[in-house]
Amino acid sequence: LAEDLPPNRLLGFKGIAASTADEVAIAPGYRAEVLISWGEPLVDGAPAFDPQGNNSAADQEKQFGDNNDGMSFFPIDDHHGVMAINNEYVNEQYLFAHGGAKATSLEDVRKSQAAHGVSIVAVKRIGDGQRWEVERPSRYNRRITANSEMRFSGPAAGHPLLQTAADPSGRKVLGTFGNCANGKTPWGTYLTCEENFDTYFGTHQADYQTTPEQQRYTLKVSEPERNWPDYDERFDVAKNPNEFNRHGWIVEIDPLNPTSTPIKHTALGRFKHENAAVTLAKDGRLVVYMGDDERGEHIYKYVSKGVVDAANPANNRSLLDEGTLYVAQFDGDAGGTPLKGTGRWIALEFGKNGLTPENGFRDAAEVLIFARKAAAQVGATKMDRPEWIAVNPHDGRAYCTLTNNSKRGEAGMPLNAANPRPNNVYGQIIRWDEGGDATAESFAWDIYALCGNPIAHPEGVNRGTPNITAENTFNSPDGLGFDQAGRLWILTDGKYSNQGDYAGQGNNQMLVGDPQSGEIRRFMVGPKSCELTGITFAPDYKTMFVNVQHPGEEGDSHFPHNSPRPRSSVLMITREDGGVIGA
Ligand code: FEO
Ligand code: CA
Ligand code: CA
Ligand code: CA
Repeated sequence: LAEDLPPNRLLGFKGIAASTADEVAIAPGYRAEVLISWGEPLVDGAPAFDPQGNNSAADQEKQFGDNNDGMSFFPIDDHHGVMAINNEYVNEQYLFAHGGAKATSLEDVRKSQAAHGVSIVAVKRIGDGQRWEVERPSRYNRRITANSEMRFSGPAAGHPLLQTAADPSGRKVLGTFGNCANGKTPWGTYLTCEENFDTYFGTHQADYQTTPEQQRYTLKVSEPERNWPDYDERFDVAKNPNEFNRHGWIVEIDPLNPTSTPIKHTALGRFKHENAAVTLAKDGRLVVYMGDDERGEHIYKYVSKGVVDAANPANNRSLLDEGTLYVAQFDGDAGGTPLKGTGRWIALEFGKNGLTPENGFRDAAEVLIFARKAAAQVGATKMDRPEWIAVNPHDGRAYCTLTNNSKRGEAGMPLNAANPRPNNVYGQIIRWDEGGDATAESFAWDIYALCGNPIAHPEGVNRGTPNITAENTFNSPDGLGFDQAGRLWILTDGKYSNQGDYAGQGNNQMLVGDPQSGEIRRFMVGPKSCELTGITFAPDYKTMFVNVQHPGEEGDSHFPHNSPRPRSSVLMITREDGGVIGA
């Protein structure tokens, strides 16, 4: 562990062992406390959480949502801030009083819908220390759910494919759900990313035939994962086929304006958005890196047409509406093991690169609505499930977690240089260098960590790169974030059996990587059958917030505080000596 290694300039804490306990384990000298949990009262008038599941849909609309994932901290002053926190999905087995795994009434569906979306949470500093608490009441506290009104903007707004009977304009849309991770704009707004939206749609119309476009977005009508279409016709694709096209976008929310209407930005394309890593190019244009989390899907980059106007925030709103969407092609020697190569960004522009009516794209909007089809048309590289992307503030290099891919090496998913391992159970973290210009159309890439397990596999490709050790071994990197000093925080959403390929890895965890030396150290481990995800800091980097998501999804947790039903929760992490986290 840490004392056996030479001192590291960046990693100032002692790494910890893997854990299978139903509690949080954290590096010595640190403490992790719960800031807020699913169901806690948030908006004025919200009732207390009922651990037996008896809260109504109307109650849940005023309570903190479930399955908190990506989040950002927006400071107001030294003692006040607002957090925007995604509520990705629900664990139905814990949501309803009946204890069933699916909704059995419209009221159940409405409660589920109310537990999705985004929670805007006001926080205030406790005294002059590093600890914060939820501020109630606060005019900022707000719930945005699967039924909140939003609007479309950008090139596809109003397009016939976005029009429905309820909204013939194709410009007004209800709700956001599957809100996985996030981004933050330089003008102080929040970006929430719609990921697994397909699982909410379906139909019982026996002869319904899905279109190739619906199939490309993995719509399965025969057995919807959730029962929303049974009770809410909006989600019945036989009755409202275009509603499906109105989800899978990036949504902008102004957390400091409680009456603002969220905006779905169509210029950033429609796919299963993981997060939105926002950076500024040296010429002032806005750049957003985005992953599409599905086996064999792609990595995208959006470059704005205009430049950020720091003096006039209102002038920045069009930056997410006018720009170019690109998709990545990673080149290199598929047969070798250099774990590096070059690549290029290919523009997804109507009329170019084969994105023409002859190939099934009738206009610019269709290229965005069916961005996956467009990416395949131009020859984008099929990746091992691109999850989060984070940009190193010191050198501009972007890092992306490729979480795993059990189908790599099978038909239609051949090995390639950037995704070099068949049946990739561990995942890898890839990074690219655009030479300091985030608008560049080419890059050099390498693999920062080919994850593996030296305990289960002392030799061979599943051992992983040398920076993977018996002490830090983990699988399925997912959340990713840089702090100001350049520490790379890595959060996992993987297998926690602690056996076989996963022997010695314990529960899901958070580690810290040094981008230069490659060293990785384990900082924290979550309770049973959770993932750790979502990461943000107070402005002084002395308080970190991290999410415990879906603890006990296997029915084996009472997190937090011996709760009868486990609850997703936001953790607040501080140092006992009040210092900078990780230093
Ligand atoms: Fe919601 Fe790909 O994680
Ligand atoms: Ca998640
Ligand atoms: Ca994720
Ligand atoms: Ca994941």
